Amino acid sequence: NSDYLTPTPPMGWNSWNAFEKDIDEKKIKEIADVMVSSGMRDAGYKYLVLDDAWMASERNKKGELVADSIKFPNGMKAVGDYIHSKGLKYGIYQCRGYLTCQKLPGSFEHEQIDMNSFAKWGVDYIKLDACYAAKNNRLSSEDFAIYHEAILNTNRPMVLSISDFGNGAWAWGGKNYGELWRTSGDIYPRIGSVYHCAETSGGNGTIHPAFNGLWQFAGPDSWNDPDMLQVGNLNTTDEDKVHFSLWSILAAPLMAGNDLRSMSKDVKDILLAPEVIAINQDPRGHQGYRVFNKDSIEIYNKPLSDGTTAVLILNKGQNKTDIIVKWNQIGLKGPQMVRDLWLQKDLGIYHGAFTGKNLGKHEHLLLKIGTKGQQLVEGPLPIPEENYTV
Ligand code: DGJ
Repeated sequence: NSDYLTPTPPMGWNSWNAFEKDIDEKKIKEIADVMVSSGMRDAGYKYLVLDDAWMASERNKKGELVADSIKFPNGMKAVGDYIHSKGLKYGIYQCRGYLTCQKLPGSFEHEQIDMNSFAKWGVDYIKLDACYAAKNNRLSSEDFAIYHEAILNTNRPMVLSISDFGNGAWAWGGKNYGELWRTSGDIYPRIGSVYHCAETSGGNGTIHPAFNGLWQFAGPDSWNDPDMLQVGNLNTTDEDKVHFSLWSILAAPLMAGNDLRSMSKDVKDILLAPEVIAINQDPRGHQGYRVFNKDSIEIYNKPLSDGTTAVLILNKGQNKTDIIVKWNQIGLKGPQMVRDLWLQKDLGIYHGAFTGKNLGKHEHLLLKIGTKGQQLVEGPLPIPEENYTV
């Protein structure tokens, strides 16, 4: 459907994880330049999103938001013009409360005027936060209906990223108002936080029963968002890789959050891994789900549009171990081709099962299993994950 704004999970870069409040025009332009020169734009990272703290502490006399004149002396339209001149799309942050989380003017009771400003500046993507809103910072469909309406009134298509998970946007019909919604609190550059955020979106209610089965709500224009990437900000390359593989299999938005200007070759290779990105961007839009979770070993399965399936096997424990994935866990039968998506290499034909050997702490494999054109794996299997044994 060509009417979808985000037929596959949105990809881009957001300023918060790298810079927090410390953003300005020069930095943003440099980031835009690197998004092009690094190959990220062409790999699909098209949104450049300015998070909190771009605006001045007072609105103008007309009640409109204005840029912080020190950080963005040429105003916010100029920033957008630059971003667009690089073939990228322009994202900006606002908040549903009367203040943003950084205590700058929020959009409460200025909803239409702010959406009008964004449309005038050429904004393509709005991240809407939840601080200082009525009702304990927890938002509902009524709040987002206001923005949905206000965006429609501008006649400019703008993605609405719902930065609130408190009342479970997936459950109150977030997809009728926005294209993605947070499932977790803020991600921090630690592997434990990465695992926690992944669990909110892809777990089986282990965090809270309300978070069970979120995969059912995912699809075109309707993405669970376990928060932005910390790839490049974690401690080891293995951690960065497992983070990227988890977001890939969970069909999570891929919003890079590192300082792209100084990233290492290893980090760049992770963010650009073509076959890992392809799993995330698979047109079927099926979110992966966990089929095994025991003794710090996890297996996830994501049915793909070509009849094959992506499988992530992960060792969250401390000791080296073998991990077996059995075909009956992932809806397959008979001989199947197994491909390693990081190595971009076929590993051979396997019958009934595949064993990932000697996986150490935080090590994983991201595989593609099956033969193109075979009968589709139709959605998650109704077998509880704890019924499997290794
Ligand atoms: C809370 C959000 O969850 C973060 O991603 C970031 O936008 C900050 N607010 C900004 O104040």
